[in-house]
Amino acid sequence: MTERELDRLIPEQDREPEKLHSAIRHSVFAGGKRLRPSLVFAVGEALGCEPERLVTFAAAVEMTHTYSLIHDDLPSMDDDKLRRGRPTCHIVYGEATAILAGDVLQCLAFGAIADDARSSPETRLRLVSELAAAAGTPYGMVAGQQLDLEGEGAKLTESELRDLHGKKTGALIRAAARGAAAIAGCDEAMLGAVTIFSEKLGLLFQITDDLLDVTQTTSMLGKTAGKDEDVNKSTYVSLFGIDQARALAKQTADEALRSISVLERREILEEITRFVLMRQN
Ligand code: IPE
Ligand code: IPE
Ligand code: MG
Ligand code: MG
Ligand code: MG
Repeated sequence: MTERELDRLIPEQDREPEKLHSAIRHSVFAGGKRLRPSLVFAVGEALGCEPERLVTFAAAVEMTHTYSLIHDDLPSMDDDKLRRGRPTCHIVYGEATAILAGDVLQCLAFGAIADDARSSPETRLRLVSELAAAAGTPYGMVAGQQLDLEGEGAKLTESELRDLHGKKTGALIRAAARGAAAIAGCDEAMLGAVTIFSEKLGLLFQITDDLLDVTQTTSMLGKTAGKDEDVNKSTYVSLFGIDQARALAKQTADEALRSISVLERREILEEITRFVLMRQN
């Protein structure tokens, strides 16, 4: 469902400027895990919302995420050559087009939400606001990416690292969940539970990303393994070591599961939590 929506929202490859559209499609349709769209649907399901009402927002979050990956891989950032099992966008299309592909994925994401006639104008405004805060600064992904770059070579404290991870990875995951709750419509207590759950899930997701970087192979990950240590990134592994990082991941997963005990239909959210804890890529 998300794939079809992404295909609808992203201009065809043969539309001018072809190189730009081809670059976007190269990065979007490359077999990412689609965790954030899955979370949108899972929260929606838990709150009794039909998937058709969620799909545009799910695609918008995935486009925002893919933009962040394209820019994260640039030579001036993490300088990565492999992503989702393919050469990175800038390797294939050049740095300038990769920057533009990332830029325009953001425009497509916000435009898609604004144009989604299945949601009320109030809901669309709320989704735009939620996504803008999560992708931006001072609490969102771009702020987290800046802190991540500044953290290279530095030894951060646990609370600094948690703050960094919460921004660079957690914020978008939180927005996926809260956006779905906004579309579904739920009371403040439910929204509170969904928010806490998503914050725990986001932290868990980046802890496992840090672990996989040192424990997994490049071919399994579809991105270059061992990069964090190469450039002295502050990660849960560099701070605590593998065993303690694993224990913290387990503890965070348990906290995530506890936070949704108030939801009746929580099976898929539980499944996602276990998937993020146990994931191999
Ligand atoms: C990777 O995200 C970047 C982080 C935020 C840690 P994912 O692991 O979700 O990447 P894809 O979408 O599956 O490629
Ligand atoms: C990136 O974190 C998070 C983003 C905002 C894209 P990482 O730099 O750890 O992600 P990977 O390991 O390259 O996927
Ligand atoms: Mg990075
Ligand atoms: Mg990176
Ligand atoms: Mg990483």
